[in-house]
Amino acid sequence: MVTLTQRLLFVLSFISCIAISMSMRHNTPIPPTTARLTDRFPRLVFDGAFSDLFGGQNIKKTSNGSQVSLMLDKTSGSGFKSNDAYYYGFFSAAIKLPMDYSAGVVVAFYMSNSEAYPKNHDEIDFELLGHEKRKEWALQTNVYGDGSTGIGREEKFFLWFDPTADFHEYSLIWNQHHIVFLVDNLPVREVNHSVAMARAYPSKPMSIYSTIWDGSQWATHGGKKPVNYKFGPFVASFKNFLVAGCAWNQTKAAPSCTRSGQSGRLALDPIEGDEFVKLSADQQRGMEWVRSKFMFYSYCNDLSRFPVLPPECKEGKQ
Ligand SMILES: *[C@@H]1O[C@H](CO)[C@@H](O)[C@H](O)[C@H]1NC(C)=O
Ligand SMILES: *[C@@H]1O[C@H](CO)[C@@H](O)[C@H](O)[C@H]1NC(C)=O
Ligand SMILES: *[C@@H]1O[C@H](CO)[C@@H](O)[C@H](O)[C@H]1NC(C)=O
Repeated sequence: MVTLTQRLLFVLSFISCIAISMSMRHNTPIPPTTARLTDRFPRLVFDGAFSDLFGGQNIKKTSNGSQVSLMLDKTSGSGFKSNDAYYYGFFSAAIKLPMDYSAGVVVAFYMSNSEAYPKNHDEIDFELLGHEKRKEWALQTNVYGDGSTGIGREEKFFLWFDPTADFHEYSLIWNQHHIVFLVDNLPVREVNHSVAMARAYPSKPMSIYSTIWDGSQWATHGGKKPVNYKFGPFVASFKNFLVAGCAWNQTKAAPSCTRSGQSGRLALDPIEGDEFVKLSADQQRGMEWVRSKFMFYSYCNDLSRFPVLPPECKEGKQ
């Protein structure tokens, strides 16, 4: 027999559970502190570094080109692209996402060379996927190397802040050692240039892209929630562009960033300090924090998709 006291205790603990989970949803969790890599590089303005890619009528530059907004409406999405391609470096933009209902909307900040290498392109993606509840945007990351598009190496995260309320920094380290995805300087994913990843590791110059587009087919709940233009137009804003890369104008034979003092050997890696070649203990801890609390999908855990997991899944804890 359940006594009245037991029942009361049960009800009380149930209520306090709800209260705790509600307060967790409403208070932004405080992430661990990690090195502010984004403070180390000068900010670029749009003109000179980037050009319109598509939907020009939906692209607006403000504050002398230091801020750009991309709009998706019924007629078109929009996007811009870096004027140069880069071979390795640190790449970052601060992004503020569209408010309110945004299911089906995709905002992407990524690197790719699919125009220069249509058959064996490389790609590193941040894709922000809209949601019917305004704060629940998801972040998807992905990497393709040498046309390895048959294997999607997606990982998905919820964010620990409201990405529509303010700007947040989305940054990439890409060098010969690893690729690191960072959000507000907190690493969320590391892809080592390991033997297992050798084929699939991006290793040709890539351009930087930012786009907003209609991902109704797949972006939200596998396509169950398409874009609803009644809530549009959808506007994403970008600023704090950081590009510390080895610029490689593909019409020229070799990149211009030869490292001096290396007997003329080409060093294609301008980001060579300790902080860029491996994660610090703080960054490792920060990454654990994000991955344990906010990662909700990793291809390395998806046995229904990969009865035999890609080989790099065995290395470290992807
Ligand atoms: C834009 O740039 C011009 C010329 O450099 C400068 O005079 C002006 O104050 C700037 N305006 C803003 C809003 O930053
Ligand atoms: C690459 O260099 C060529 C020749 O100097 C120039 O015409 C072209 O605009 C450059 N392209 C980019 C993307 O900078
Ligand atoms: C990447 O390599 C470093 C150094 O070997 C290792 O400490 C780290 O755990 C690896 N990361 C992943 C995600 O496997």
